[in-house]
Amino acid sequence: MAAVLRCMECGTEYPLDEMRYRCDCGGLLDVAHDLPSLGISRELFDGRTGARGPEPWRRSGVWRFRELVLPVDGDLIVSRPEGDTPLYRNPVISRWVGLEGFALKHEGENPTGSFKDRGMTVGVTWARALGVRAVACASTGNTAASMAAYAALAGLTAVVFVPAGKVALGKLAQALAYGALTLEVEGDFDAAMALVQESCRELGIYLLNSLNPFRIEGQKTIVYEIVQDLGWDPPDWIVFPAGNLGNTAAFGKALWELRELGLIPRMPRLAAVQAAGANPLYRSFVRGFSPLEPVRAETVATAIRIGNPVSFPRAVRALRWTGGVVVEVTDQEIMDAKAVVDAAGIGCEPASAAAVAGARKLVSGGVIGRDERVVAVLTGNLLKDPEATIAYHTGDLPGIVPRFANYPRRVVPSLEAVAEVLEEVGRWS
Ligand code: F0G
Repeated sequence: MAAVLRCMECGTEYPLDEMRYRCDCGGLLDVAHDLPSLGISRELFDGRTGARGPEPWRRSGVWRFRELVLPVDGDLIVSRPEGDTPLYRNPVISRWVGLEGFALKHEGENPTGSFKDRGMTVGVTWARALGVRAVACASTGNTAASMAAYAALAGLTAVVFVPAGKVALGKLAQALAYGALTLEVEGDFDAAMALVQESCRELGIYLLNSLNPFRIEGQKTIVYEIVQDLGWDPPDWIVFPAGNLGNTAAFGKALWELRELGLIPRMPRLAAVQAAGANPLYRSFVRGFSPLEPVRAETVATAIRIGNPVSFPRAVRALRWTGGVVVEVTDQEIMDAKAVVDAAGIGCEPASAAAVAGARKLVSGGVIGRDERVVAVLTGNLLKDPEATIAYHTGDLPGIVPRFANYPRRVVPSLEAVAEVLEEVGRWS
């Protein structure tokens, strides 16, 4: 059997190349691979690590796992290449979180600065295979930046729908620079998400939000890579920020597949972290996975400022499969965690720091044991959101106490002025 699209609710199957995002019953679709027929092994993937060659995709941490991602001809692949991101360990961050076995998978070190490139290389490659001319997405910024870049590489028209005034500067700059038609929707992300779905349906544009099952296939490789980075000995927990819930969905599917294939002996538990002001999944979780009740979202972490997540059912499935948990963190906790990650010389955007804040909270609450091995996913680069970083350090973020502030000191051009500041700060000699 070749790969098909399969409804997660009723199991109805559709051909892979049918252009649809939902089943007739309304359920979300999975790309279902015929796992036993794929003939894959740890050695196959290990053998491809560090591969070189003229085609960029051979170096990609997404296409390394191509049998589990998308059966497609290599000539069609649009790749920067993406993935193959570092797994950092840092004693200062580990101590702050309260775990010795703590590592950070830095997805902000992807080509456009976020994990979205992993889904987008697959989504845009598939758009090409289908022969579409235009692609669209709603976005809090990173999906827009990534889609704009990959669409430009593939020669496709890109249309991005972003919430007006709520997109971090680096992301907006990327969307414009990569040439996407950028629509600033007068409303929040959830309004933009509803509008892009209607627009794609009515205007015949290919939708590249994570509703699209091919995006999920690319994002699964974050988990494949983490497990491979650890020599196929999975961590006890994978902790990550959760907004529209594409990653939650992708991580669950990846782990389920790895276990079905016998590539891992046991499943890590997933810990999805939400901002307290944008927490519909958390609210559902604490009520034993009650039905989704959308919220009006507000948080400093604009990437996850989402109140009505489209992948909610797949996320619940992922958390059930893995014995997962959901935790919420305040904006203060997010910005403190960001300051700690940044000052370690690693750096990330606010939403990514939510993962670190969430890990710390789960450790202090006793959910994660201090001797457990935990990988947190940093989803986006420090440079994505310079306004939030500077506003934190200068004390200009409303409601946030800058506990780890490092504000700039203005000096007249004289040695005395420099010496005076050094004396005042007292961190020298
Ligand atoms: N972290 C960052 C940096 C993000 O940009 C996003 C989502 C998430 C976490 C949450 O991931 O949606 O899979 O639960 N950004 C989307 C966007 C919504 O439009 O760029 P999720």
